[in-house]
Amino acid sequence: TRSYSIAVIPGDGIGKEVMPEGMRVLEKAASIFGFEIEQKWHDFACCDYYARHGKMMPDNWKEEIGRPDAIFFGAVGWPDTVPDHVSLWGSLLQFRREYDQYVNLRPVRLMPGVPCPLAGREPGDIDFWVVRENTEGEYSSVGGIMFPNTDREVVIQETVMTRIGVDRVLRYAFDLAQKRERKHLTSATKSNGIAITMPYWDQRVEAIGAEYPDVSHDKYHIDILTAQFVLNPDRFDVVVGSNLFGDILSDLGPACTGTIGVAPSGNINPEGIHPSLFEPVHGSAPDIAGQGIANPVGQIWSAAMMLEHLGEAEAAAAIMRAVEQVLATPSARTRDLKGAASTDACGKAIAEALG
Ligand code: NAD
Ligand code: IPM
Ligand code: MN
Repeated sequence: TRSYSIAVIPGDGIGKEVMPEGMRVLEKAASIFGFEIEQKWHDFACCDYYARHGKMMPDNWKEEIGRPDAIFFGAVGWPDTVPDHVSLWGSLLQFRREYDQYVNLRPVRLMPGVPCPLAGREPGDIDFWVVRENTEGEYSSVGGIMFPNTDREVVIQETVMTRIGVDRVLRYAFDLAQKRERKHLTSATKSNGIAITMPYWDQRVEAIGAEYPDVSHDKYHIDILTAQFVLNPDRFDVVVGSNLFGDILSDLGPACTGTIGVAPSGNINPEGIHPSLFEPVHGSAPDIAGQGIANPVGQIWSAAMMLEHLGEAEAAAAIMRAVEQVLATPSARTRDLKGAASTDACGKAIAEALG
């Protein structure tokens, strides 16, 4: 039988609550579709681990993780005990870089029956992908502080764009657009104000776009692009952005479809040299952690993306049908979607709807 090794890392806060629901649905899908999940849980990459060891992960974390077929991740961060940049640069951001997961793929889709905060929008009106550059750009460790703790303090952080880094994520986005019906790519830019890196980004979009004559493309500055997400979300098919712009757009997009709680993501190393990592877009949500009310759909949809990536397309599609069926049922929805269902009730309903 087909078997997949999965590194399971729940993380902090609601990561620990939604992960069991992701695993529940994954295991159910495995039993129905005839494959096996070999799971290895890790207790690092979370702030409890930091409290015990003074660091987010063991020094040999790569050996501990080994070479799984994929990594299934919850969410990390507990700012009351560990500063966010410490916990995130010590875990998730290291995975993205060390495993060269240079594409962060994040769907934005309005699901049938889910109340849409934008008036008059139907499922189908909002159905696009955000392709986020995931290893460089504004998320750089290049910079520093001069004259610290004086009134002459100077704080600098550079944006880093490399030709290889920009071109490869653009090619991924154009390839994706080419496979879609509308074959349209929108690039997020800010080349009017950020006058070195962003004109470079635009120039590479033109250069790579020329390799895809059948894909149309346009660009918006990020400020008006956020407005367009709200005013005309039906305009988008594939939206590609730098690390920071992609981050912002991938919370805004799902919020326009009802909640960030349903949004999944794939942190992908397309060449398959390193494992890819699948996780919800949302964070550890300290404000609701421990109450059993988090929406598990982002984690469950991430499981579907992971299965698609592993070649189990049928199982992935079945999970998505189950998710749609449950989201269309008001009583099965969690509080972020104006329902009253608990995290595990929602997860169980999706597992049951699977068959
Ligand atoms: P967040 O995504 O954790 O929460 C933002 C808001 O959305 C909160 O009100 C939260 O209750 C709500 N929310 C999020 N997920 C939900 C779900 N599944 N169901 C219902 N409501 C949900 O963002 P934040 O508050 O900015 O960050 C909290 C912590 O998480 C920080 O430490 C941050 O750095 C970290 N974070 C981690 C990741 C990640 O691991 N990928 C992503 C974002 C934020
Ligand atoms: C995300 C998160 C992370 C990011 C944070 C927690 C560092 O917001 O995955 O979208 O900015 O990439
Ligand atoms: Mn984010």
